[in-house]
Amino acid sequence: MTTVAVLGTGIMGLPMARNLRAAGLAVRAWNRTADKARPLADDGATVCDSPAEAVSGADFVVTMLADGPAAHEVVSSVADSVPAGAVWIQMGTVGLEWTSRLGALAEEHGLSFVDAPVLGTRQPAEQGKLVVLGSGPDDLREKCRPVFEAVGARTIWVGEAGAATKLKLVSNAWVLALTNATAESIGLAETLGVDPALFLDAISGGALDVPYAHLKGGAMIKGEYPLAFPAKHAAKDARLVLDAAGGGVDLGAVRAALAHLEAAVSAGHADEDMATIYYGLR
Ligand SMILES: NC(=O)c1ccc[n+]([C@@H]2O[C@H](COP(=O)([O-])OP(=O)(O)OC[C@H]3O[C@@H](n4cnc5c(N)ncnc54)[C@H](OP(=O)(O)O)[C@@H]3O)[C@@H](O)[C@H]2O)c1
Repeated sequence: MTTVAVLGTGIMGLPMARNLRAAGLAVRAWNRTADKARPLADDGATVCDSPAEAVSGADFVVTMLADGPAAHEVVSSVADSVPAGAVWIQMGTVGLEWTSRLGALAEEHGLSFVDAPVLGTRQPAEQGKLVVLGSGPDDLREKCRPVFEAVGARTIWVGEAGAATKLKLVSNAWVLALTNATAESIGLAETLGVDPALFLDAISGGALDVPYAHLKGGAMIKGEYPLAFPAKHAAKDARLVLDAAGGGVDLGAVRAALAHLEAAVSAGHADEDMATIYYGLR
């Protein structure tokens, strides 16, 4: 049976591990805060006390950790224990520079490396409907298919490692701008004494409409923020987007999103959903 080590069972990693198990793959899961991995035992996964234990006998090592430094720290600590021939599928959002550093780490230890960040949040992760953006050596595309199909509705394979991260950053620039724009229109409505629900009604069903405005805008209006993507990770992603853009293009909307996210994080919303960007406008 194909064995997948899942390192990091947070908001995304936990349901991804569950879906790998549901697809009939053997799963060995580890999380720094052990309690978050324990529920996977009920799904038939092996819950491990250390990353070294998790990677033992693995055909694939999936990292779904917060950021590049976390992925580097964890994989460095076990790189020599990963079985020969195993493939490291890096699925967290780490940006361009860290993707390249993680690729170098893999090479140093003779590991195959696939850069495969995902689009979609908690609910698509639970439903196995993420969009996997894959890149790496072409011969690994087919090999990784069972993993990608277990967690995603589709895979877009875009070439050499790093290419998928570029596409992820481009997509995240869109998500960040959209969330910020939603917060700004709602904030403006409130400032002008307009019922913000009327704004959502006004765009509803037309060319200006987008489901995300209703999802995140609805949360802002209600003041209820079911956690899908923490504000601290959204701020991290905005920084990764801006770093990648360098001086090549002016991303004013992403800069605005970052400023509002940083204000929301400073106001205590770091671990709440990114829709709390709304508080950053105040
Ligand atoms: N949520 C989303 O909508 C979404 C969508 C697409 C991509 N992503 C990306 O997916 C990744 C995971 O996000 P998430 O939403 O699942 O976040 P999360 O729930 O905060 O999970 C982060 C994971 O990283 C671990 N971690 C952090 N620092 C660590 C360290 N130094 N050493 C070991 N483990 C460490 C955490 O362990 P502890 O539990 O011990 O803190 C946890 O397992 C991030 O890169 C995020 O940007 C998220």
